[in-house]
Amino acid sequence: GIDYTGMMNSPQNPSGLTKEELLSLQNALDQAQTSLEERREAGELDFSKLLDSMKAQVPGIIKYADTAAANFENLVVLGIGGSALGPLAVQQALNHYYYNELPPEKRGYRPRLYVVDNIDPVRFKELLEMLDLRKTLFNVISKSGNTSETMAQFLIVRDNLRRVCGDTYGEHIVVTTDKEKGNLLPIALKEGFQRFVIPGGIGGRFSELTPVGLLAAAICGIDIAQLLEGALSMDRRIRETQGVLLNPAQLRAALAHHLWQKGKTISVFMPYADSLKTMADWYAQLWAESLGKRYDRQGREVHAGQTPVKALGVTDQHSQVQLYVEGPDDKVITFVTIGNFKESQVIPLDPELPEDIHFLGGRTLEELLFAEQKATEYALTLAGRQHQKIILSKLDAYNLGQLLLLLEWETAYMGELLNINAYDQPGVEEGKNGTYALMGRKGYDVRKREIEEYGKI
Ligand code: PA5
Repeated sequence: GIDYTGMMNSPQNPSGLTKEELLSLQNALDQAQTSLEERREAGELDFSKLLDSMKAQVPGIIKYADTAAANFENLVVLGIGGSALGPLAVQQALNHYYYNELPPEKRGYRPRLYVVDNIDPVRFKELLEMLDLRKTLFNVISKSGNTSETMAQFLIVRDNLRRVCGDTYGEHIVVTTDKEKGNLLPIALKEGFQRFVIPGGIGGRFSELTPVGLLAAAICGIDIAQLLEGALSMDRRIRETQGVLLNPAQLRAALAHHLWQKGKTISVFMPYADSLKTMADWYAQLWAESLGKRYDRQGREVHAGQTPVKALGVTDQHSQVQLYVEGPDDKVITFVTIGNFKESQVIPLDPELPEDIHFLGGRTLEELLFAEQKATEYALTLAGRQHQKIILSKLDAYNLGQLLLLLEWETAYMGELLNINAYDQPGVEEGKNGTYALMGRKGYDVRKREIEEYGKI
């Protein structure tokens, strides 16, 4: 559920929204719903459109995943951005927090998972030194099949594998990439790597519920059928429900849009669960890369987009919350809470200890965590700061699938309200092309000269 009372006008929150303000966007949202549905029919919005066909692929993915799990002790995902953050977020949300450190029987004999979403030479070298490559499977994920970081990682791994595993090195590589495009594909075909396809139209940050995320999740024993079921149920709900107060994606987008117009240029995503910490990274990319746009659809310069900030409750209560309560009034905060944690921890009561800490004894860590979250809400309300809450009854594959789709759809709606294209990333492409040029890729000489003349290096 969504609790948005912390954003509504009240005696404590005079700058909150009125119900009339919220309802005033209904026409725009109805138009957005029609236009999104039409574009979905026309082949766009693949994050929603592909869910059924992904469901059909589940048995094939699980079959491969079970074989991989039987043959390997480690799985390494090589990818970046949309090709890394989803797999990381889902793994952290649903598997044991210390999954990699568990003995194999406690992991269901599934491989450890490492997601290498950067090209830090120290981390990469130390990872390869630490792993027994003969027992390791590498999933190279790149939609474009061209990204410098992922291709560099792949080339290093391929070289190491050839040295260690000889002719069988190809059995240690599974490639997830486009069906037709990119440089990874011809290599995979020539060298006979197992291959999974990232469907054509989908953007990286919307691709978690394709083989990009489903494969690693299935190999690590996550119930991907339930993940997709949850996603499909939220997808249906959002597509079929009319009215801003009933449609959760419309509601979240309407709140965000109103507050953005009122100068809340920062959107803080603050789960109260360590297992959702990397979900905040995933959300940050989705929100930033989709909505941070210079031009609107008519080509006018708008510089749209809220800056996402990742925070973690309660950790950041002791770090950032001071700023949220008393600093510039430019933020809107989304808490994410879990109704029932899968584990409970009682705090012991010891009458011998000072009386001032007796109040903790006999209570649970969850109670303390909930109390802290509530108290933070209260402090923000007193300060007239805008906040809302997404409440998950429990954190399982089904509910996580729902959450992913909710956040994807609200991003789509926000794109409509901002009148921008939420599915491209020209700013990222600019950087990618600049890297090709500086690293001497063929065909990028003009760009290289431009950058050099500009004095950026
Ligand atoms: O969302 C996006 O499109 C990007 O973050 C990409 O996922 C990222 O740049 C990696 O691209 P690719 O999967 O093509 O290697």
